[in-house]
Amino acid sequence: MKYIRNSKNSKSDYNLVFIYEDKLTSIIRTIGKGILNDDFKSAVKQKLVSGKAGSTNIFSSKIYDKNYIFIGLGEKDKLDIQKFEKCLNAALKIINNYNISSISIDLTDVNIKNYNHIKGAIIETEKTQYNYKSSTKLTLKECSLKVSTSVTTSKLNAIKEESIAVANGLNTARRLGDTPPNICHPTFLAKEAKKLEKINKNLKVEILNEKQMQSLKMGSLLSVSQGSKQPAKLVIIKYMPIKKKRPIVLVGKGITFDTGGISLKPSPSMDEMKYDMSGAGSVIGTMQACAEMNLKNNVIGILACAENMPSSTATRPGDVVTSMSGITIEILNTDAEGRLVLCDALTFSKKYKPRYILDMATLTGACLVGLGKYPSGLFSNNDDLTSRIKESADRTGDRVWQLPLYNDYFEELKTNFADIQNIGGRYGGAITAAAFLANFTEDEKWAHLDIAGTAWDTGNDKGSTGRPVKLLTDFVTSNK
Ligand code: BES
Ligand code: MN
Ligand code: ZN
Repeated sequence: MKYIRNSKNSKSDYNLVFIYEDKLTSIIRTIGKGILNDDFKSAVKQKLVSGKAGSTNIFSSKIYDKNYIFIGLGEKDKLDIQKFEKCLNAALKIINNYNISSISIDLTDVNIKNYNHIKGAIIETEKTQYNYKSSTKLTLKECSLKVSTSVTTSKLNAIKEESIAVANGLNTARRLGDTPPNICHPTFLAKEAKKLEKINKNLKVEILNEKQMQSLKMGSLLSVSQGSKQPAKLVIIKYMPIKKKRPIVLVGKGITFDTGGISLKPSPSMDEMKYDMSGAGSVIGTMQACAEMNLKNNVIGILACAENMPSSTATRPGDVVTSMSGITIEILNTDAEGRLVLCDALTFSKKYKPRYILDMATLTGACLVGLGKYPSGLFSNNDDLTSRIKESADRTGDRVWQLPLYNDYFEELKTNFADIQNIGGRYGGAITAAAFLANFTEDEKWAHLDIAGTAWDTGNDKGSTGRPVKLLTDFVTSNK
């Protein structure tokens, strides 16, 4: 879609204007006196136009030949990122139902602390243009943005370029997540990553096969794929435009389908385990965004891809494997496979001398139980890194909530038969999973995001959310 700066003489099919329930009269001021006829004023009087959060009103002014969609945002000083994006999204969905080719969005009356509302609006608009089924044709071609005059045109162009790059990456992550698991297997994910090389010559992709992983002694990762006909892949996406700068490393869980293995999952909703590669999808999306916006920072993405299947060659509960780090692991539950692929990818990532390591994983149902579907779970061994991630979350609305990593949780991983076991006790499953990973990142500044609750939506809007691409792209752009 084309984004232009709104000017006096630009003309759009529909004009989106935000209104507040406690500032209703200011609508007349923002869009100009007399443009709306008496019908509008009487509608306000009759409370048909309320400005309540989530409400939308369509109005046409015959005299001036203009169409408006008023988007209610509730009370002005109670506005937050979630409310803004949700309301804008709802209005854009209405637009998609008509054959509309151009809109304008008036952003002059939107202000949220630490939030770039222009960037947010562009990303939200691009998000509504995504649809997994290509049969759904959309007509919107042009969006003109009305922004404060204090935003220079070169500044606006920079925001535009960055926002579109982020949105493209986010929509890639969504498309990969939504792709059915018979198509999206580890080899497919590796090929999709390889395609990123076309964007920018600073981006290079290496793909390691099982034999190469064998020579690296990745016994833990390989134990997960051993029950599947689909071979595991370790994908390394290097975006290194700067000489001699230590990279930020992003590691993604890429389980393209998680049956649970011999510790088989129950059948209801098992189809959703196609989203178990969402961590890897978010890394691919973030790397795409870095390359598209020509980011001046070094970032490496590592995808740990495997399919978790039950079969006569699958691992059994009780099996002991040796990870690349040398730490031996007793696999007590084959459904706790994410940590088994991640630990070897984390060990591998150290060879790049990372400034920070962040891993993203749909790791535990317990995280979803504990935090619900709004924030991703955040775990880290470093306070400075933790606050940087929280700052990115605050700026983007891609929320996180930190959970503790007390020594007690590590105790739960002790076993008589190996260095550690792959599950903890009955409670705090998201934390014992993170503690398992922490064993492999002791000398690094490391953080783990459990995105089990945030990576996809269920119900009518079932589909990948592309989270946490917004958080990650903000993190790599603001920590240069
Ligand atoms: N991919 C799942 C976690 C998951 C489940 C995410 C449901 C989102 C929704 C992960 O591999 C898993 O199965 N974890 C187990 C761990 C347990 C066996 C210790 C879980 O959460 O039940
Ligand atoms: Mn599992
Ligand atoms: Zn899993």
